Amino acid sequence: MAELAAVSVRTLHHYDEIGLVRPSARTSGGYRAYSAADVERLREVLAFRRLGFGLREIADLVDDPATDPIARLHRLRGLLVEQRDRTAVMVTAIDKELEERAMGVRTTTPEDQLKVFGAQLYEAIGSAYPATRRTEPRIAERIWDALGDARTVLNVGAGTGSYEPPDREVTAVEPSAVMRAQRPVGAAPCVAASAERLPFADQSFDAAMAVSTVHHWPDPVAGLREMRRVARRVVVFTYDASTTGWLQRFWLTRDYLPEFAGLLADWPSLADMTRAIGGSAEPVLVPWDCADGFFEAHWRRPEAYLDERVRRAVSVWTRVGPRAEQRAVNMLRADLASGRWTERNRDLVALDAAELGLRLLVA
Ligand SMILES: C[S@@+](CC[C@H](N)C(=O)[O-])C[C@H]1O[C@@H](n2cnc3c(N)ncnc32)[C@H](O)[C@@H]1O
Repeated sequence: MAELAAVSVRTLHHYDEIGLVRPSARTSGGYRAYSAADVERLREVLAFRRLGFGLREIADLVDDPATDPIARLHRLRGLLVEQRDRTAVMVTAIDKELEERAMGVRTTTPEDQLKVFGAQLYEAIGSAYPATRRTEPRIAERIWDALGDARTVLNVGAGTGSYEPPDREVTAVEPSAVMRAQRPVGAAPCVAASAERLPFADQSFDAAMAVSTVHHWPDPVAGLREMRRVARRVVVFTYDASTTGWLQRFWLTRDYLPEFAGLLADWPSLADMTRAIGGSAEPVLVPWDCADGFFEAHWRRPEAYLDERVRRAVSVWTRVGPRAEQRAVNMLRADLASGRWTERNRDLVALDAAELGLRLLVA
């Protein structure tokens, strides 16, 4: 067991003595024998340990009577994803500083140096958001139509409020302080909270909306169910990564950034998401001149992806890590210069809008 789990035998004995992982049986020779359930518990303990939790806190977490193993796995997964994203942000920041130092320039302030450590993803990358992220009127119209005659609207994962309808009573929910601080003067009131635990009574809004945010939630299905609980109508603008060959749909992920698949490996299927709100999904085509600079927005304007400002406003680029980002950008630059990109994507030039997997879920 110790060898498999890469911990010392002393550690296992200690966990047994304090009752944290107590093997269910002993062999006739007096050795501790771990059942499948014991192994599952040990795995949880070690993962929480690796995330920096103390043994006493871990005991409370794994013995919490309010959670079952599936809920704890979701919590663990969310914490690990957050840690991975935070690490990616720190690596990107250090690479940028190393590059600057090598060129003898410094734009990184001591404040920036500290900010990336300990920050959540959007605390670290959120300040780059407004440069290229704004309301795309054609998508806004679809969302506002789907809201029907709702008078009170909750906007979950609201960010800077890009798609908030101007003619209704909006309440925003946004966990990142950096994003909340960038909301324009006069924007709807914003509550600091997460989708998975909305601080509102059942059915307290006519509608709840969520735009380009569900892929950031540690537990998307729980968040969608929360939206369903607090509102009579639910509208979600999101992404379908469940159809076969989805990675091939967009040349950027197909030819340059296959690492995108890893970010959505455990992403719920479109069917699971629609089931969580009890609704259906409609495709949303991305116009060729899309005003909101989300990941797919520049499908007919490939040069845009060479622009650091465009990439920094899209979390995908930070989450895949600086090595994959640099490789993808270098390859794209070379293919644009050689004409290979144009050759491979000749048919796109004639399109005004593209089907790239974006979906509007309506319930
Ligand atoms: C790509 S931005 C989208 C913002 C805005 N909806 C828009 O369309 O411009 C994603 C937002 O989701 C927020 N977010 C991350 N985790 C969340 C969670 N668990 N619950 C609610 N929002 C979350 C982030 O802080 C960020 O502001």
